[in-house]
Amino acid sequence: MILTVEGDISAYYVQTLCLLFFPGSKFGVEEKPSPENPEAHVRFYREGEAFCSTATLSLGDRQSTGTGEILVSDIPDASAERLAKIAVGRAVFAAGKELLGYTPPWGILTGVRPSKVASELILTGNGILRSKRVLRDEYFVNPKKAVLAVSVAATELKITKSISLHDSCSVYISIPFCPSRCAYCSFVSGTSGRLLSLIDDYLETLFLDIDNIFSVIRSLGLTVSTVYIGGGTPTVLTPTKLKALLARVAKNVDTASLAEFTLEAGRPDTITAEKLEIAKAYGVTRVSVNPQTLSDELLLSIGRRHTVDDFYRAYELARSSGIRDINVDLIAGLPGDSFSNFSVSMDAILSLAPTNITVHSFSVKNAADIRRQDGFALPLGGGDAAKSVEYSQLRAKNAGYRPYYMYRQKNTVGNLENVGYATEGHEGLYNVLMMEELHSIFAVGAAAVTKLVHHCAPRAGTSKIQRIFTPKYPYEYLRDAEKIRVGDASVGMPSLAEKIQGFYEQHNP
Ligand SMILES: C[S@@+](CC[C@H](N)C(=O)[O-])C[C@H]1O[C@@H](n2cnc3c(N)ncnc32)[C@H](O)[C@@H]1O
Ligand code: SF4
Repeated sequence: MILTVEGDISAYYVQTLCLLFFPGSKFGVEEKPSPENPEAHVRFYREGEAFCSTATLSLGDRQSTGTGEILVSDIPDASAERLAKIAVGRAVFAAGKELLGYTPPWGILTGVRPSKVASELILTGNGILRSKRVLRDEYFVNPKKAVLAVSVAATELKITKSISLHDSCSVYISIPFCPSRCAYCSFVSGTSGRLLSLIDDYLETLFLDIDNIFSVIRSLGLTVSTVYIGGGTPTVLTPTKLKALLARVAKNVDTASLAEFTLEAGRPDTITAEKLEIAKAYGVTRVSVNPQTLSDELLLSIGRRHTVDDFYRAYELARSSGIRDINVDLIAGLPGDSFSNFSVSMDAILSLAPTNITVHSFSVKNAADIRRQDGFALPLGGGDAAKSVEYSQLRAKNAGYRPYYMYRQKNTVGNLENVGYATEGHEGLYNVLMMEELHSIFAVGAAAVTKLVHHCAPRAGTSKIQRIFTPKYPYEYLRDAEKIRVGDASVGMPSLAEKIQGFYEQHNP
């Protein structure tokens, strides 16, 4: 896509708006005009009290222009940046809607966390009804999605009410290895024999990082609310290695004191009774057993290398292990999937009555193998995926689940969302704390991102957040982990502990 932006507005933000109408577009300087390549010209300017924008979008010989305007007095406490984004969002939205006859469900909300916007609205005194109205009228969010975002926000606020956010934290442990690579996946995960052979070295380094991070947490006087072992596929580890990992966590924290301890098992073909027994013995309270779809044909075509029967077998093992919560992930809108196929999967999962179901909307990132297939394109409007997502929301609600967390990703079919459902009292707490950025998450392992959070009162809208990144790939992680942990005085690089302490001292002097 060819994009030109005029005025004091982030080009990246304008790109995310364009992606609402032209999913999967690239914006490099090498993009050339052609009848298939859309063009956008977006201008932002101010006229006294008014923040104004015009946007012209063209595709082939069709063209459409939209305008957007907002006055400072319309949202008196909004920053200039937010007002500028609303004006530009409205202009691109109007132009795109007219050009393509398509209305993005989340309006001009391009961010990852629509429910965070909703909870900020609630916490700043708007109440439930007004918050829904603001989402609809200011951000052009579809009324059903506005209801979803506000109800997720209300549930989140309820389930995190009793947690003392400023003196608690969570821990994420990354196991970036999988038995094989699924064609749609963009997560960093080692699957080749060469990478899987790094597991021993990886765990050795990871254990040092686990000890280090818990020691930092103790020195800060924080309580650990939740621990999440994610991936990749943590159950790719042999029983002995899994046991060693869980023992290392248990050496550092009384796992019985955790509000939640998740082992994201994931791939059914890695789950055994022995591994689940070990998990239960070490205090794991939540596991994921993920089919993504209950169609063998589709599983084969997305390269997932397990069958529907494997899923049922693993699910039953998880159930008989006595682990409190089982989560099941599904994906709506997988290439080759249909509404009827998805609805069969959703109904079958509901009949198992897991405590948690997460419905993801298919998203495609450059790193996914599927992206490189000829003619691959995301349908505008989402096609069957939009119907599937709507069906999952209705069916989950009627079966007694409520949506408790949600997020969105770039390049998602139909600009749809990912939603976690749970029966009351079984919500995945880590997901909420992490997604809503409610307290610090200390993350260890390759591709792990530590997020330090400080809330200025009141909680909404005024948080200070600092991210600390760990190298993405296992090789890089093994190379750099020690330097990150202990620092490098010769180049003035502080240790991880010093960085974290610096953040806490700055914000809690
Ligand atoms: C980080 S993955 C790990 C889970 C585990 N390895 C598995 O595949 O079962 C978490 C979830 O993200 C979802 N996911 C992964 N790739 C996706 C994609 N391209 N689009 C939508 N959802 C995706 C899947 O539902 C997956 O279970
Ligand atoms: S979807 Fe899960 S199992 Fe498949 S490659 Fe990605 S992380 Fe691994």
